[in-house]
Amino acid sequence: PLPNRRQDRRVPVADVEARVDAWTEGGYEGFTNTPDTDPDLPAARVWGREIAGRMVESRLGCDLRDSATVNDADEIDRIIARGLDAAQSWRDLGVTERTRILHRAGEILESKRAELLEVMGSECGKTLDQGDPEVSEAIDFAHYYAALGQELEKVDGAEFTPSRLVAVIPPWNFPTAIPAGGALSALASGAAVVFKPAPAASRTGAVMIEALWEAGVPREVLQYVHITDRDVMTGLIADERVDRVILTGAYDTAVTMRQARPDLPILAETSGKNVTIVTPNADLDLAVRDIVQSAFGHAGQKCSASSLVICVGSVADSPRFNRQLRDAVASLKVGTPDDLRTQVGPVIAPPSGKLLRGLTTLGEGEWWIQAPTPITDAGPLSRDGDGEVKLWRPGVRGGVKRGSEYHHVEYFGPILGVMTVDTLEEAIEIVNEIEYGLTSGLQSLDRDEIALWLDRVEAGNLYVNRGITGAIVRRQSFGGWKKSAIGPGTKAGGPNYLHAFGEWSDAPAAA
Ligand code: ALA
Repeated sequence: PLPNRRQDRRVPVADVEARVDAWTEGGYEGFTNTPDTDPDLPAARVWGREIAGRMVESRLGCDLRDSATVNDADEIDRIIARGLDAAQSWRDLGVTERTRILHRAGEILESKRAELLEVMGSECGKTLDQGDPEVSEAIDFAHYYAALGQELEKVDGAEFTPSRLVAVIPPWNFPTAIPAGGALSALASGAAVVFKPAPAASRTGAVMIEALWEAGVPREVLQYVHITDRDVMTGLIADERVDRVILTGAYDTAVTMRQARPDLPILAETSGKNVTIVTPNADLDLAVRDIVQSAFGHAGQKCSASSLVICVGSVADSPRFNRQLRDAVASLKVGTPDDLRTQVGPVIAPPSGKLLRGLTTLGEGEWWIQAPTPITDAGPLSRDGDGEVKLWRPGVRGGVKRGSEYHHVEYFGPILGVMTVDTLEEAIEIVNEIEYGLTSGLQSLDRDEIALWLDRVEAGNLYVNRGITGAIVRRQSFGGWKKSAIGPGTKAGGPNYLHAFGEWSDAPAAA
């Protein structure tokens, strides 16, 4: 397995992995998230074209989203009360039945793959190559958390009491996998859920939630609540009856929530400013491929994206590295998701503030590999008809200086900075000066360099000679360090994640 330095800290069930292994041998055929394998490319192409054709149709409204919009504090009060009542019935159902329902949710999500790809493309600009592994990740979450939920019942001498009500507040940029992971983990722990989608991904969230209802999760146990009013939203999380909040979003959003409720029991995955270091001992061809994928997949709009590359020593002057990087970026096809050739989709939030500055201005001594001028509106792709999504030409800015804005700021767009240093030690220091610590990458084939980097670099998810986005459930549990996370330190898709949704106590002695 790839190294994952910040391991989950709470491990009351030492052998949980072995138990899951034993369980999965009994019928579950393995995790689906293997985007590299495509046994039948021609068929996949035809299938993709069909989906792309249907994306145009799916830009219509969504009944669930519209009928479930709640901007009224009294209604939130009733929703919380309903969720608390339902939590007891969900617990009373028993772990065997809950597990069955959650595995069924995985199967139904699989059957809705095309629908999810359509709605993610039209609503959030997800291209097929980005959306497809995301659906797989949601399916993996269903089966994995279902298995972990059973483990909570099996700890000798300890008893797990789940939270009753969990609020799940996901982001728009992973509109299927992250919302599904939040809801499924809370449900598997035995809690009821109030699910509040990101406004820019509310239709995708609705399709995903409907799959879980269809699997047998009662609607009162999993309530879909589309809130657009900030005060009403604050009222939800500030309500003491909400036991836990799962948030994926900006660090500042998490801080604002904490201000609304200082003792808020929050599990927040927040911002990132993620760096890939390339040493002269790297396979430069593969390094370029991994960097381009990590920086420009989903137009760079991932918390996990690589937005800074640090070239060590001779890499900076390597014509091979520089030319390949330039050519790879220049050849990226920018477009809308309904065009199957698209590699870089639209920028969904209209660029403003720091992103606009990052896309349009150069610091002293910096230079562009490619001018990042806006090329066009995204045309028919828009959310709620506001027409504000844009296609931007991806850009690489070189000559980035230590301590500059580009060293520290998360831009969340299709732009990559390049810095050069003399030594690996210096590169690691520069990474660790960043206040965030979500993902980090090293491209090197030298064992000593890898060992040094693993020992010193401060980030939640570490990847060696691989792209730094796309953590795979169970194989690479996902979670941040420093200002990239707030909460108990358990990682999504990892063996201890469900423990964050409850309390452990000594089991009553047997009679
Ligand atoms: N889990 C997502 C990734 O690894 C954010 O890219």
